Amino acid sequence: MTQPAAQLSPTAQEAIVEALTQGLSETAVTTMLAQNFHWNVTGMAFGPLHAMFQDIYEDHFTAQDDLAERIKALDGHALGKLSEMLKRSKVDEHDGHGDDKTMVAAMQKAQETLAATLAEAGQLAADHGDTLTEDLCIARGQTHEKFAWFLRSHLR
Ligand SMILES: [Fe+2]
Repeated sequence: MTQPAAQLSPTAQEAIVEALTQGLSETAVTTMLAQNFHWNVTGMAFGPLHAMFQDIYEDHFTAQDDLAERIKALDGHALGKLSEMLKRSKVDEHDGHGDDKTMVAAMQKAQETLAATLAEAGQLAADHGDTLTEDLCIARGQTHEKFAWFLRSHLR
């Protein structure tokens, strides 16, 4: 049965907030990763890669807010501490050195990780009847899979 946020049990709210916090953390780390690559990518495809990494960080910056504000709607704490986000994130930082293919591959991996995290969070929300969180997670997961496809297509 569908449950609005206010009618979920505290246990369900906490579990969903935890899953969303992982998604938020990975989105924040990936925002920085995309900006890092936007600045430091080199090679003959500099122009389109520079632009694509910008598309990614602009999308992710908005998504951070969407995820954090859903956490607030669920009465949770929106994590805003970078060191804690890094600890929770399955997406790793990058030193910004390396060739274009290395950066595209690292970003593809980050997008696939995020798609999996958001798919899991969406399933968890659905299990608790929180269809509104599920909807946000599905939309985010689809966007990450779209970016993963863009990136993968560069490497074939
Ligand atoms: Fe720029």
